[in-house]
Amino acid sequence: MRSARRKRAAVLISGRGSNLAALITAASEAGYPAEIVGVISNRADAKGLELAARHGIPARVVPQGDFTDREAHDAAIEAALQEFGADVVCLAGYMLLLSPGLVAAWEGRMINIHPALIPSFKGLDTHARALAAGVRIHGCTVHFVTHDVDAGPIIAQAAVPVLAGDTNQVLAARVLAAEHKLYPLALSLVAEGKARLEGGRTVLEDVADHGPTVLFSPSLAALSDAESDLEALARFTP
Ligand code: GRF
Repeated sequence: MRSARRKRAAVLISGRGSNLAALITAASEAGYPAEIVGVISNRADAKGLELAARHGIPARVVPQGDFTDREAHDAAIEAALQEFGADVVCLAGYMLLLSPGLVAAWEGRMINIHPALIPSFKGLDTHARALAAGVRIHGCTVHFVTHDVDAGPIIAQAAVPVLAGDTNQVLAARVLAAEHKLYPLALSLVAEGKARLEGGRTVLEDVADHGPTVLFSPSLAALSDAESDLEALARFTP
């Protein structure tokens, strides 16, 4: 059963804010279990700030350069999160590493989106590295934030094919379109308590899981979805 109170989500950004836009759109829908109550940027020129303003969402700019060290910077971020009354924090293109103290304070309540299928391609330039590696399937991941960068317990992933002739830009656009669906899904699971961090792993509960079970890349045109995995297995089991 859905809890009556929507979770208060704050979003940390450093730039464009297209994932922020996806979260704002999702949260504007009736029945979505979270609302976006505040945006924090470390950069005053982050495009996402304009978006927050357009939607009347309070925003704070907390530039790194105003502080002597990361702990002091993160203390100011924590103060802003408290001001917003945040229950959940979404990192959406936030380009700074967080201090261990801030990460620990939000354990199980802070999530990040990474433009690759982790544990592959942690860090930057994921699309160029995926192309260079020649993978046929790439994608994006939402995970709980832990001390290890881009490596926390996975909440949800979306896979996209890498197609012949893909450029960095084209592949990035395909992954980004998936991100915009994945992040609202993952936030809703966390907000509803259906995805929880327990003992260093993500526990999913009461999550509908259906849809295509195999992504082929290159695609297998003749693939029939008629038979389920279990049915197929049963044919080979005496
Ligand atoms: C996204 O690709 C996200 O996965 C990564 O940084 C990018 C942010 O894009 N962490 P945007 O600011 O949400 O448009």
